[in-house]
Amino acid sequence: MDKKVVLITGCSSGIGLSLAVKLASDPNKAFKVYATMRNLAKKERLLECVKGLHRDTLDILQMDVTDRQSILDARDRVAEKKVDILVCNAGVGLMGPLEVQSPDSMRQILEVNLLGTIQTIQAFLPEMKAQGQGRILVTGSTGGLHGLPFNEVYCASKFAIEGACESLAVLLQHFKIHVSLIECGPVNTDFLVNLQKAELGDETLQQVDSQTVSLYEKYLQHCSSVFQNAAQDTEDIVKVFLDAIHSPSPAFRYFTSSIMPPLTKLKVSEPDGSQYISTMSEIIFSSKEQ
Ligand SMILES: NC(=O)c1ccc[n+]([C@@H]2O[C@H](COP(=O)([O-])OP(=O)(O)OC[C@H]3O[C@@H](n4cnc5c(N)ncnc54)[C@H](OP(=O)(O)O)[C@@H]3O)[C@@H](O)[C@H]2O)c1
Repeated sequence: MDKKVVLITGCSSGIGLSLAVKLASDPNKAFKVYATMRNLAKKERLLECVKGLHRDTLDILQMDVTDRQSILDARDRVAEKKVDILVCNAGVGLMGPLEVQSPDSMRQILEVNLLGTIQTIQAFLPEMKAQGQGRILVTGSTGGLHGLPFNEVYCASKFAIEGACESLAVLLQHFKIHVSLIECGPVNTDFLVNLQKAELGDETLQQVDSQTVSLYEKYLQHCSSVFQNAAQDTEDIVKVFLDAIHSPSPAFRYFTSSIMPPLTKLKVSEPDGSQYISTMSEIIFSSKEQ
């Protein structure tokens, strides 16, 4: 049986790395994985995980999703000249009061999370359409389904991905290409380390009003307690990717905790939005939470 060719973005760490390792280790060698990363100097971590055992199922390629030429070069290095499963996973976060975010930081988040994902899909789409089959899996976020204070630009990028993917999914079903979003809540990865974050002692925060800074402090405490108590491991996320990959008719949206999170449900059940806003505010900022 021909191996399914999978190309994954953002494999230097976290979800992308775990997914690449899992698929390349498939006991039936059902996948040929192209694990891409923007900085090949970071490939050792992935190589250590596979311990040199996957020469016929894993290739590592350079690919920066903000650089169109690098995407095209990676695409052209796929020996099979086709990709059956494209996984758009690369992403970065930005956290802090909106007033302190520089135009460059905001642009970078949108360039990686939104335009990077779209440019990657664009590069592979003509060949997938010509094949008349394929899967596009995108690492989504509950931050793309409901707003989170101090994450305005990150949420904007992930909300936008929802719209882009949903629009594409409607069209691509005519080409037997399935688009799926894997909606993650907090996951134990390098995300929080790689995140661009305003720290409480930062000079920039001195320009911000004291009420916002005090709410930001509460948000940071909330965020760290959520990550400590509720973050999933990458293996849990990889299982959901596998469900989508193995399903003959994959869903558009998968929730990594298997059910729709209550706050997302609230947005659907109370569409005017006021319930969501007051509930979220209470969860994050009410003093009994701290
Ligand atoms: N962890 C969470 O709590 C969480 C929750 C919801 C959704 N997500 C989403 O999950 C995805 C993966 O994140 P993660 O949690 O696995 O975090 P991670 O460990 O920080 O991994 C992010 C990956 O994206 C790569 N990347 C960043 N900019 C890139 C670019 N311009 N071109 C190519 N790759 C780039 C990073 O490469 P470098 O090492 O070079 O920076 C890294 O490999 C992201 O889309 C994120 O938004 C994460």
